[in-house]
Amino acid sequence: MQLVREPEAYRRACDAARAAGHRVAIVPTMGALHAGHMALVEAARARADWVALSVFVNPTQFGPNEDFERYPRTLEADVARCEAAGVALVYAPPREAMYPAGEETRVRVGATAAPLCGRFRPVHFEGVTTVVAKLFALTGPCLAAFGRKDYQQLRVITRMTTDLFLPVEILGVPIVREPDGLALSSRNAYLSADDRARGLSIARALSAAVRRFDAGERDPEAIVRPALAAVRAAASSVDYVELVDADTLAPPPARLGARVLLAVAARFGATRLIDNVVLGEDGPPLAAGA
Ligand code: PAF
Repeated sequence: MQLVREPEAYRRACDAARAAGHRVAIVPTMGALHAGHMALVEAARARADWVALSVFVNPTQFGPNEDFERYPRTLEADVARCEAAGVALVYAPPREAMYPAGEETRVRVGATAAPLCGRFRPVHFEGVTTVVAKLFALTGPCLAAFGRKDYQQLRVITRMTTDLFLPVEILGVPIVREPDGLALSSRNAYLSADDRARGLSIARALSAAVRRFDAGERDPEAIVRPALAAVRAAASSVDYVELVDADTLAPPPARLGARVLLAVAARFGATRLIDNVVLGEDGPPLAAGA
């Protein structure tokens, strides 16, 4: 497995892989790899025979008071994990390689980036789309895998890829959860035992919502109100518990249709957790009675 740090060396490696007849895939990450990331690698490897994984804690997607400085950085362990998982190349550029002196271009997606996390993290998606566009430009035609835990990110990147005619097939990979239902995230490492226990309120609230929807409930308020109350009772603060159209992320109709996203963002201690289910598509995160 190669470890590459410079953009041009990464571009050359991707071009060489394609020239040798491989289908190239990229799994963009910020490192601190966990089983959720490895599920992205596995999904990419099922569809492409040469998989690169990028590790880059992207400064432009963090707001001034967010956790850029303390975001976990575990490159050595990440590289070992990638090697064991059959990744062909890890691209781990330094900050100056992705944002060299004099750079001034940003990629901004409109309405899809505006609701949910866009309301609470104003610079976040512009930073994500900028760095992902750079990664796509370096990688060339490829498949790119993203987790559905960051559902809005997946929709925003899909929108950008369509709008800019980028030669990239986007693959959304299902959320991976701990046995007790907590969605895997690199930020789970920040949680105290108490925060973590309270964080399970999200999976419980989402599970109850799935059951209500599957039992025929189509009144948005009757789904959101109990979910919000359950998360609010456990969380330190709640950014949102909201229903939106699963494709456009626009507000849902007065009576819910066949597929709708229930998305949650809340803080437990200082740690912000996000999670979601697509009602009408996903099963409950927790088994009945859990
Ligand atoms: O999901 C992430 O880890 C990041 O937002 C991404 C897509 C790697 C861009 O920095």
